[in-house]
Amino acid sequence: MAIYLDHAATTPMVEACTQAVIRQLKVLGNPSSLHTFGRAARKELERAREIIARHVDCHPSEIIFTGSGTEADNTALKGLFWRGKAHGRNVVVISAIEHHAILDPAQWLTDHEGAEVILLDVDSNGLINLNQVRELLSHRADEIAVISVMSANNETGVIQPISEIVEIASDYGVAVHSDAVQSFGKVPLSFSKLGLTAMTLSGHKIGGPLGIGILVLRKGFDIPALLHGGGQERDIRSGTFNAPSIVGFATAVEEIFLDFVSHSLKVASLRVALESGIAAKMPDAYINGLSADRLPGIVNATFPGTESDTLLLLLDAEGVACSTGSACSAGVQRPSHVLLAMGHTDVSARSSLRFSIGPSNTAEDIAQTLKLLPAVLTRARAANLR
Ligand SMILES: Cc1ncc(COP(=O)(O)O)c(C=O)c1O
Repeated sequence: MAIYLDHAATTPMVEACTQAVIRQLKVLGNPSSLHTFGRAARKELERAREIIARHVDCHPSEIIFTGSGTEADNTALKGLFWRGKAHGRNVVVISAIEHHAILDPAQWLTDHEGAEVILLDVDSNGLINLNQVRELLSHRADEIAVISVMSANNETGVIQPISEIVEIASDYGVAVHSDAVQSFGKVPLSFSKLGLTAMTLSGHKIGGPLGIGILVLRKGFDIPALLHGGGQERDIRSGTFNAPSIVGFATAVEEIFLDFVSHSLKVASLRVALESGIAAKMPDAYINGLSADRLPGIVNATFPGTESDTLLLLLDAEGVACSTGSACSAGVQRPSHVLLAMGHTDVSARSSLRFSIGPSNTAEDIAQTLKLLPAVLTRARAANLR
């Protein structure tokens, strides 16, 4: 029996979404065309936009469809930087634990646009320090084009104090973006209540299609585009609409919010079962971010004396799919920058695994994983000694 514990990487597409995508794939018409076919396709698309806006708590016109969460992150970071640069602001502030979809464009802005990038530190629980944000703004607010801090971390599930960051930044009129790819659909999230300038979402993390993202961008707050062409989406994201994926995204959103509370409670109870099982059976293991507020479904555990790649492959051979959580570049596994920022050594960061739980997981999945883990650890440790 295969056990899928990698929902932070991608989720199974919910059946209603699959059906909606298939239906829309058969609909002829470019949603930007003025004739009857185009208008009919456009109507479906705008209905989808309204559904999503209702659940994100933003105005429909604040939703910009993109080809992925990565694209939305790039559009936000580069666009907000360019907007700020036009007013003499050259500094980009991000947390040290951002996803590569923010880290890498920030590096690109340094290399190609002369940006100064300031990294916000995190403590051993993976939480940013609000005093560092206050201190930075009190001295350099006039230079800062954008602050980007993720809503919840994809490796540890640790939730960041976004509304507090926005409150501090708004005193100085500094734009704030948050990558909410992991938290949307998992914990309550309201764009308007948070007061953000921009926010990123992705379809495939919530039971929707792969290859569809959203940049939520405050009304009237326009930024330079990455893509130029047909002028769709407030001229910020040109390109013919991916209507099937957009309609599928909205259907997945509707589905997830039907059972939001019961799913969250179920996933959280499975997480607690996994964590207490690890503590009981493997006393030298520890959970990363344990004392912080975390997403219901992510468990990041360090198993001293092991190599995460070996663990992952041994568990996979036993039918359990999880993740090392860190980036794999050209086949070379690097220690996670998130765990390093939390104070791990290279060695301990390389001994960590991420289990991410979804509503389709069962208590048996967790029990089976816990049953397999001790023997897998023994084999992984033996392999590590060779
Ligand atoms: C926090 C975070 N941001 C951005 C992304 C990228 O989203 P996408 O896969 O839609 O490009 C991911 C995906 O892993 C993520 O976890």
